[in-house]
Amino acid sequence: MRILLTGGLGFVGSNLLELLEKDEAVTKIIIVDNLCYTANLPVIEKLGNKSSFIKGDICDTNLMRGLVRQSDVVINLAAQAFVDNSISNARPFVDTNVLGVLSLLEAIKQDGFRCRLIHASTDEVWGDILEGSFTEDSPYLPRNPYAATKAAGDHLVRSFGNTFNLNYNIVHFTNLYGPWMYPERLIPKTIVRFMANERMGLHGDGNQIRTWLHVSDAVQGVMKILHSSFHGESFALGMEAEHTNLEVVSIVAKIMSKKLETAVEYIPDRLGQDFRYSVCSTKSMNMLNWKPTISLEQGLNKLVKWYSHQHDE
Ligand SMILES: NC(=O)c1ccc[n+]([C@@H]2O[C@H](COP(=O)([O-])OP(=O)(O)OC[C@H]3O[C@@H](n4cnc5c(N)ncnc54)[C@H](O)[C@@H]3O)[C@@H](O)[C@H]2O)c1
Repeated sequence: MRILLTGGLGFVGSNLLELLEKDEAVTKIIIVDNLCYTANLPVIEKLGNKSSFIKGDICDTNLMRGLVRQSDVVINLAAQAFVDNSISNARPFVDTNVLGVLSLLEAIKQDGFRCRLIHASTDEVWGDILEGSFTEDSPYLPRNPYAATKAAGDHLVRSFGNTFNLNYNIVHFTNLYGPWMYPERLIPKTIVRFMANERMGLHGDGNQIRTWLHVSDAVQGVMKILHSSFHGESFALGMEAEHTNLEVVSIVAKIMSKKLETAVEYIPDRLGQDFRYSVCSTKSMNMLNWKPTISLEQGLNKLVKWYSHQHDE
């Protein structure tokens, strides 16, 4: 099986690569990434024999057509993915998350729909929910520009499934954390700030509710989809345990022996902040035989160790 991994040097891609390289059914991996600021350059030096890297943009349909021709499965992880940036300027989000997805779909179309697509999305396409959980069948109700562009990309993928019988699956991750994440998000930013003896700024009162899935559980889910024969299915990968942002920062502070009162400062809330995300993973558990294995406390302990190891290198 030959894989085209778009956005493969990002956070999820860097973690997925390790599994793809170990998988005997995977014979070739082409990583295409435009090296935006979240890309992990050190990963290029660690690539195994099966993998090759090409600097390129998914919006370049000609390039994508040539690469799709050499592949059996496209795993699309290329995205602009940080909500705060989409609030400052949504245009790059439309470019990659909507037009880039269309460009990939056109490349697959020009290749006669021989290639399968696994497309990464988010639980944010369903918006926030005060009680209960969304499922894969819930109507999309994105509430920030990032989520709106991800929803648009998903709609294009689904429409190509219906119109052209594109063989696709969509995977909706909840909030992820783990090694190789650019330190602009809550968890890596907190660790990096605490390591530098700086305060972590928390949006609003810090009481927003999220679920956190370790990236190694998330990429195991992607591998389960890769090895399944499902066609046109969406799979949500979430966690049951809920935490406020303040609780997450408190756990990190405890692991890193910081006094919460002096390690945190409160900053104005994000515009249009979603109060709670919650997605039900029952379908993924039943159909993919997937389940999360790492609790937030375990994952955060491992991650703090990973950062101190990186720091010492
Ligand atoms: N990280 C999370 O918590 C999370 C949660 C839910 C969903 N997701 C989704 O998972 C996917 C991967 O996210 P991530 O956290 O790894 O993001 P990331 O920003 O770490 O990685 C994205 C990668 O894509 C590359 N890229 C961006 N635009 C590109 C383009 N036009 N052409 C080629 N490469 C491009 C970047 O250089 C980067 O290496 C995204 O679809 C995101 O929406 C992530």
